Formats: sequence, C-alpha cells, structure tokens
Amino acid sequence: MPSFLIINGPNLNMLGKREPEIYGAQTLDEIAQYTEEKIGTAAKIEWYQSNIEGEIVGRLQLAASQNYRAVVINPGAYAHTSVAIHDAIKILKIPVIEVHLSNVYRRESFRETLLTAKACLAIMTGLGKDAYWLAVKSQI
Ligand code: DQA
Repeated sequence: MPSFLIINGPNLNMLGKREPEIYGAQTLDEIAQYTEEKIGTAAKIEWYQSNIEGEIVGRLQLAASQNYRAVVINPGAYAHTSVAIHDAIKILKIPVIEVHLSNVYRRESFRETLLTAKACLAIMTGLGKDAYWLAVKSQI
C-alpha cells in the first residue's frame, strides 16, 4: 500500500474557527477523517501540521529519506513567501502537490504570488476539503 505525507502549514490548525466562510466549518482533524474515508485502504496517510517555517523545511528534508509515494502540502501563507520551503520541496524526488482550500486567485492580490507552487508537480486551489483526497488519489 503506498504511503503519503500530508503537510499543513500555519493557521491550518485553526480550521473550523478560522474564517469559516472562506475555509469551511470543518476542523483539520475532520478533514483528515474525511480524506481517510475517501481513500480507504488504497493508501496510508501520515498527517503533519506546523506553524513554523523551519519545522516544515525539516519535515520535507526528512521525507526525502522516507518511502512516500508523494507529498501533499498546503503551505498556508508560506505559499506566498517561502523560498526555503520551495527549496526543500526541490530536494524531493517524488511528486509534491500543493493544495489550497480557497481559490487564492479570487482573493487579495498578494495571494497571487505562489513561490512554493513553482517547485510542485501540480496545484489545486479552490476545491475546499476535497483537494486533499483528490491529490492523493491522483498519485495512487
Ligand atoms: C490557504 C490560502 C493561503 O493564502 C492562506 O494564507 C492560508 C490558507 C488555503 O488553504 O486556502 O492560510 O493556503
């Protein structure tokens, strides 16, 4: 069974409480449960969340020596700013798919700059909680 790592960046631990009109009413745990239900026994999924840029870089570096089929990442606001996460994604030899719950192109113009996405195989933006399982499914 293929293994996947799903990384969530800053403030995504606040889903459910945080701007639900944009991000939905579900918590990250509920999204994780929904994703696992959709994927069933087709894949093993490991979840990681951090509010700290360097920790996300460290987790990506670790993933480079682990046996994942692919990594799914929602870098949160770091998507728009982090050269360090971009560079860490480039270390990986497996597909990395960036997801955003909201459609970042329909929001403030500063969200149109996507630094980390340039290092990724693909990006999904605006599909809400479904992006996570769809990203996993695309690599099974
Ligand atoms: C987000 C979009 C980002 O612009 C924002 O900073 C987030 C969440 C999303 O999932 O829509 O934290 O990544």
